[in-house]
Amino acid sequence: MNERPSLDHLYPPMPAALGGDPYTAAVPPIYQSSLFLFDSYAELEDVFAGRSSRPIYSRGDNPTVRLLERRIAEMEGTEEARAFSSGMGAIAATVLAFVQPGDRIVTVRHVYSDAFRFFEKVLKRFGVRVDYIDGTDTDRLVAAIPGARLVYLESPTSMVFELQDLPAIAKAAREHGVLTIVDNSWATPLFQQPLAAGTDIVIHAASKYLGGQSDTVAGLVAGSRDHIATINREIYPYTGAKLSPFEAWLVLRNIETLPLRMRHHHDAGLKVAAWLAAHAHVRRVMHPAFADHPGRATLRGYGGIFSFEVSEATDVAIFVDALRLIRIGVSWGGPESLVVPAKAALSISPETNVFARFGVSDRTIRLNIGLHQPEDVIADLRQAFAVAAR
Ligand SMILES: Cc1ncc(COP(=O)(O)O)c(C=O)c1O
Repeated sequence: MNERPSLDHLYPPMPAALGGDPYTAAVPPIYQSSLFLFDSYAELEDVFAGRSSRPIYSRGDNPTVRLLERRIAEMEGTEEARAFSSGMGAIAATVLAFVQPGDRIVTVRHVYSDAFRFFEKVLKRFGVRVDYIDGTDTDRLVAAIPGARLVYLESPTSMVFELQDLPAIAKAAREHGVLTIVDNSWATPLFQQPLAAGTDIVIHAASKYLGGQSDTVAGLVAGSRDHIATINREIYPYTGAKLSPFEAWLVLRNIETLPLRMRHHHDAGLKVAAWLAAHAHVRRVMHPAFADHPGRATLRGYGGIFSFEVSEATDVAIFVDALRLIRIGVSWGGPESLVVPAKAALSISPETNVFARFGVSDRTIRLNIGLHQPEDVIADLRQAFAVAAR
């Protein structure tokens, strides 16, 4: 395993609640209003003419949602952000804001499965070509950049957790005037800051670690004022994928505990990964902390979701069914510990099956360690291996 990074940068805690509230409430209020009123013609005209940024209607802007947008921009060390009703809403809107028919985009194999489906089903229908490249092969990826409109990255990738060399890719893209977008949901801004590595736009499925409680679906996009202005101008108000004030408030609330939760996921993930790597029935563990893991890390800590491949000595379905503490479930980033066996996902229809297309073994099992103690997760895995031994 690589040297364990220090997590000292997680403290002191995040800045106190954002506000400007007349009662100095410690927690921001929820502006549960679709509509904002004006006292005069002049006030309304100021908004339409761009002289004032007051909210007028919550499909465009809402004060609670704006607090969350300011918060994520600050955490990613950038100027602006936009919140969406899901991670996919954020991904689709961001990519669509920048592409035209006839464009080509470059992305990584093993990109999140619904991002892959969005590329295959939607982008291709509008005449955008998509190149899927092994993201650990920086030379190949960099060679594909000239002439592309944008590079869409996810480091680490879904299911197999392959890493990309963000600084090298960002540098090459900049030289060719190509936009770079990074899905940073796995690492969170606490463990990786893609914009500091030179990329342009960062995306979060806030449904995962930022939300952290499995109680909301939300997406965030952060970047420079210009890039977010393009998203606002080209697409945001017209596709209507806005986040509700209540869900923005949930994410804001749960971001306050992010450093504590990420510290737990980091420690617990490393312990369970090390235990799995030493297990006789495990072929390999796909965790970015391992020295032989493919790709170059720009990580300052590790999330608690990774995969492992079991040997022929384990029956995958019996193993998964034997788990007690660890449940079967497709999302991640909340308190629950979860597994997803790639074998089940491989039954998705072949033309939009990212796992089948890019060769994920049916012996791969994705494990999300929630807020459980690593010893309890290990005990559950141990007994399931015993039940599933052939
Ligand atoms: C890495 C990654 N990106 C994006 C998404 C999409 O987020 P959402 O489910 O909020 O649309 C997911 C969801 O699982 C994900 O795992």
